[in-house]
Order: sequence, then structure tokens, then C-alpha cells
Amino acid sequence: MRMFEIGKRLGMCASFVRQGARIADVGTDHAFLPIWLVAKGVSPCAVATDINELPAQKARANIKKYKMGDKVTTFTCDGLEKVSPEDVDDIIIAGMGGEVIWGIIDRAKWLCDKKYRLILQPMSRADNLREGLLSAGFAIIDEQPVCEGDRLYTVICAEYAPDGVRYAPSDIYFGGLRGKTDSLSRRYFARQARLLASRVKGLEKGSREESQLLAIIDELEKAAEE
Ligand SMILES: C[S@@+](CC[C@H](N)C(=O)[O-])C[C@H]1O[C@@H](n2cnc3c(N)ncnc32)[C@H](O)[C@@H]1O
Repeated sequence: MRMFEIGKRLGMCASFVRQGARIADVGTDHAFLPIWLVAKGVSPCAVATDINELPAQKARANIKKYKMGDKVTTFTCDGLEKVSPEDVDDIIIAGMGGEVIWGIIDRAKWLCDKKYRLILQPMSRADNLREGLLSAGFAIIDEQPVCEGDRLYTVICAEYAPDGVRYAPSDIYFGGLRGKTDSLSRRYFARQARLLASRVKGLEKGSREESQLLAIIDELEKAAEE
């Protein structure tokens, strides 16, 4: 059977998977990503999980359709609850809010090991996700913006850093995009600046929080112009 193509967003997630890595795709829905990664020979096998029965059924139907039953295993569960740490190398969590993604990582303490790679694509609140990662000692080793249709996304690649991570408050808004000058990264910085500007309006005038956010907005706006 002819293999389908994945879009740019999932393609960017796939580009961070290490050759030969066994993957877990959390919140898999249709299971397109694990099926594709195994079919392309990037991953020898995969685990696909979803918290809801309907998407899990969809995943199982596609796995059967593409004859991947011996290589892609599904679990209906919350996050990584039913995934064995020894069965996976790279963990993909895409298409959910940043806070939900961080909750899934935070509940799986075994991820605090530098052998695992996390590939994360938040639909919103990427700042909350980055803050969770950095404060728990995960290093953001790379991040790439990607545009699909007219929507702009970012894909974060993180690994646990046993010696801890030092970070500035603005790092939770720049993440691994800091220093990038391509047009999508600049568009991302401009959007972050606008989002923060609307958040600042609700803060007390002259407060420490307000002045810190204003300085970050300034930094983002400058990066957007570079
Ligand atoms: C919008 S879909 C994203 C599908 C796919 N990952 C993608 O990026 O195209 C989000 C999926 O995450 C699942 N989900 C939400 N919270 C979850 C959790 N805590 N654990 C596992 N799956 C979850 C939902 O049921 C849904 O199927």
C-alpha cells in the first residue's frame, strides 16, 4: 500500500527523531506519525498512546490498514502511563496545549534521564512548557518554527541535563529559537511580543512583573526586526 505523506508540522517533529530510535507518540490520534516513521525506516518500532477511546480506535484502524500491527503498539491511557521506560528512546508529544504537554512530562519522572529525547509541539502556551522543562532541568537543545497552511508552530527538542540548566526569564519566550534570524523565527518573535503586550495590560502599572515583561517584549521586538 502506498504510504501517505505527513504535513510540514508533523514532518518537523519527525526530523528531530534520531535514526533507529524507538518512539512513543503521545496523543497520537490517527497514529500517522508512528506509522510513517516506521514505514520510512527511521524507527524500528513505536508505541502510540491516546487518552480517548475514539482516537485510539482510529489509530488501531490505521495501524491495521498499513499492516503495522507487529511494529506499532497502542495504549489507551493518560500520557505515558502504560509505556515502559525500557521500550522507548524518543518521545513525541504534539498537537496539545503547552500546559497539558508539561503535565504529561512531569508525571513521567523516568524522563529525567539524558538517554531520552523529547520532541514537543505545543499548540499554545509554549512559554509554560519551556518554563516547566527548564526549571525541571531539561535543556532545550534545538527548536524550529514551521508553517503549515497559514498557521505558525514551533517544535521543541529537549533532553534532560543532569547538571541542571541556567536560564534567564526571557528564555521561556525565546526557547531554542533565540539567535535565529530566518523569517519564520522572526514572525514567531513578533507574535510572542504581541501576546505578551496584551498580557501586560492586565498587570499593575510600575510593578516588577510589568517592567520585566516590558523588557522581554522589547527584546522580542528587536529580534523580530533583525
Ligand atoms: C489534536 S490531537 C493531536 C494529534 C497528533 N499528535 C498531531 O499532532 O497531529 C490531540 C490528541 O491528544 C489526545 N490527548 C489529550 N490529552 C492527552 C493525554 N493526557 N494523554 C494522551 N493523549 C491525550 C487527544 O485525545 C487527541 O487525540
